[in-house]
This record gives sequence, structure tokens and C-alpha cells, in this order.
Amino acid sequence: MEVLVTGGAGYIGSHVCVELLNSGCEVIVVDNFANSKPEALKRVQEITGKYLKFYEADILDKLALEKIFSENNIEAVIHFAGFKAVGESIKIPILYYNNNITGTLVLCEVMKMYNVKKLVFSSSATVYGMPKRVPISEHFPLSATNPYGRTKLMIEEILQDIYASDKQWSVAILRYFNPIGAHESGRIGEDPRGIPNNLMPFITQVAMGKREKLSIFGSNYATHDGTGVRDYIHVVDIAKGHLKALEKIMKTRGIETYNLGTGVGYSVLDLVKNFEKATNKKIPYVISEPRLGDIAECYANPIKAKTILNWSAEKNIQDMCIDAWRFQVNNPEGY
Ligand code: NAD
Ligand code: WQD
Repeated sequence: MEVLVTGGAGYIGSHVCVELLNSGCEVIVVDNFANSKPEALKRVQEITGKYLKFYEADILDKLALEKIFSENNIEAVIHFAGFKAVGESIKIPILYYNNNITGTLVLCEVMKMYNVKKLVFSSSATVYGMPKRVPISEHFPLSATNPYGRTKLMIEEILQDIYASDKQWSVAILRYFNPIGAHESGRIGEDPRGIPNNLMPFITQVAMGKREKLSIFGSNYATHDGTGVRDYIHVVDIAKGHLKALEKIMKTRGIETYNLGTGVGYSVLDLVKNFEKATNKKIPYVISEPRLGDIAECYANPIKAKTILNWSAEKNIQDMCIDAWRFQVNNPEGY
């Protein structure tokens, strides 16, 4: 089966490409390297020993997408391409709305033209806004606290409307919690530009000595140690979830939403301690002001994905720390 992966050179996309190739799929990637490097795709092929077809193009470029669909027998699309930095989305919302929403519209338009109606979409736990309780199930109320989150919410609604208008579509919306870690080869992983926004890449850069200390954003939350609690999940588990979702949409029609999380919450301090234990590295930290828009606790009820997709996370927090660290050590300057 030929699968188009938009944003396949990115952090999660590259790990999904590895799993797709290992499962025998033919993989076609479209990426404009807005937030990634060609090296990631070279390494995906090196890890798997398999060939991957690649187009350097922007998903906003309709003609370029038409060319990709006309030159291949694409049966399904896994759609990662988009911008993802919450803080940046507040500063440059127009770019975020255009890239994420228009990009998805152009993609869906071209899919429809070529009668490809199987789609897996990357959504995020951010669509739960400020949840009233945890663990979070898929039917919980949705809201957004920033433009990035709003793009995900709007795209989810757009996909619902597309399916309502044409019941031939089959769509899986995957809401990831906090993906961290890297492929166990240490060849592909998260390669943030500049100062990392997210916790794990910040920790690995402190451990490398690239940054002096971690700032822990707030210690007075209503959690077991006062620091924010999240559902960290190994990126390879997330990648495997995509294969299960793909399997499902190839056999069915409809639109379904699934949480991809472990169901277990760890605080910032828990993650720091686990990282120190896994790597034997000390992480100096200071407590600073809470980050605007952050919530105390966010973790999934992952039962729907377990029941319907037969997927659940297999790797633990130590695996996540060891693998994130291996990628950082092997690639001190990123790709
Ligand atoms: P990433 O930035 O590493 O990957 C996104 C890829 O899309 C990059 O390679 C980038 O170059 C490409 N891209 C962006 N705009 C494009 C365009 N217009 N045309 C072609 N390519 C384009 O991000 P990621 O962490 O791999 O996330 C993948 C998806 O999952 C995103 O949609 C993101 O919003 C979503 N998501 C990520 C997280 C997370 O914590 N990493 C959590 C929830 C959801
Ligand atoms: C985790 C915890 C911070 C950095 C974000 C997006 C979300 C999704 C995943 C895309 C929080 C604390 C962090 C630091 C810290 N992405 N922290 N010091 O905020 O849960 O989710 O990424 O969809 O939409 O919002 O992840 O890794 O930024 O933070 O103390 O330097 O670590 O306060 O409690 P978050 P994160």
C-alpha cells in the first residue's frame, strides 16, 4: 500500500515513516523543511534499509500536491504537516491559521480530486483546553487557549464536516498527549530550533551542558509535588498508534477520535528524577513563575484506542529518558 506522509521529515513523522516502511508500506513524504532537515529522511532509510520517495513541497501549493497524487497510487494520507509552537502561534497567528488550516483544506481538496478518502490526522490534547478533571476521555468538552490549539480544533471540525458531506471518507483523528523520546537507534529524534519550548528537549540540553539550568514553571499546582503533571508518551509508541489507526481506516468508513497517551501522569520533578536515574546526569533547576496558559494536570484515558484499535503504549518513562538522551548525545548539534 502507498501512503502519503505530510510533514514526514519532522519529529513524529520520521518515526511513523520508520514503522510504515518496516510494516511493508511504500512511503511517499511531502515536506518543505519549515521545521526539519532532509537528513532525517536519509536516516529513516538507513534505519529501515528501505527506500522512501520524497517531494520537497509546501502543502499550500495545490499544483505540487496534484503532481504528487498523479504520479503515485496513494491510498491513504497521514497528515503531520503544520506549525506546532504555542508561544509562536500567539505572536504570528495569521501564519499559523494559514499553514495549519489552509494547508489541510488544500490537502483535502486534492485528496477528494484523486478519490483518496482515507486520512489520519495529528491532533493534540491541547483541544481539551482546561479540563475539569483527569483522566481525559475523548467525549470531554473541547476548547482552545491559544491560536495553535484553535487550529487543531477547527481542523477537527472541518474534518467532521467533510465526512458529513461525503460518507465515503474514513478519518482517524489522533489526539497526542506529550510525545518524548526517540528511536532506539539514536539516529532520529526531536531536533528543536533555538531554545526548546518543551520540557524534555530542554532537560537533554541542560544535561549536555548546552544550557545552565532548567526553569520549572511553577511549584504550587494542586499536584502531588506542586509541579505540572503530564502524560509523557514514547514517540515510537505514538508512531505504532498510527499504524493501528491506518489499519482501521482502511477497513471502515466514518470519523473517529482517539487519545494517544499512556494514562499515567508524571510531574516535572518526576521527569527530572527519572531522567537523572536513567542517565546518571544531574539536572540543576530553579523554580520560576508558572507559564501563562499552563494547566496543573493533563493525562489521558486511553481505553478507546485500546478497545477499538488494539493499541496501547508499551514503553515506560525510563525508556523515554534513555532514548531521548541517546539521541542528544549522538547528535549534540541536532541533525
Ligand atoms: P515537526 O515540526 O517536527 O513536524 C512537522 C513537519 O511538517 C516538519 O517537518 C515541517 O517541516 C513540516 N511542515 C510544516 N508546514 C508545512 C507545509 N506547509 N508544507 C509541508 N511541510 C510542512 O512537528 P511534530 O512534533 O513532528 O508534530 C507533527 C504533528 O503533530 C503536528 O501537526 C503537530 O501539531 C502535532 N502534534 C505534535 C505534538 C508534539 O508534542 N510534538 C503534540 C500534539 C500534536
Ligand atoms: C510540560 C510540563 C510545563 C518547559 C505542549 C503543547 C501541547 C502539545 C505538547 C502540540 C509543563 C513544564 C516545560 C520548561 C517546565 N504540543 N515545563 N520548564 O505544555 O504540556 O504541551 O506540547 O500539540 O499542545 O502545549 O508540554 O513540554 O512544554 O511542558 O517546567 O522549560 O513541563 O510547565 O508542566 P505542554 P511542555
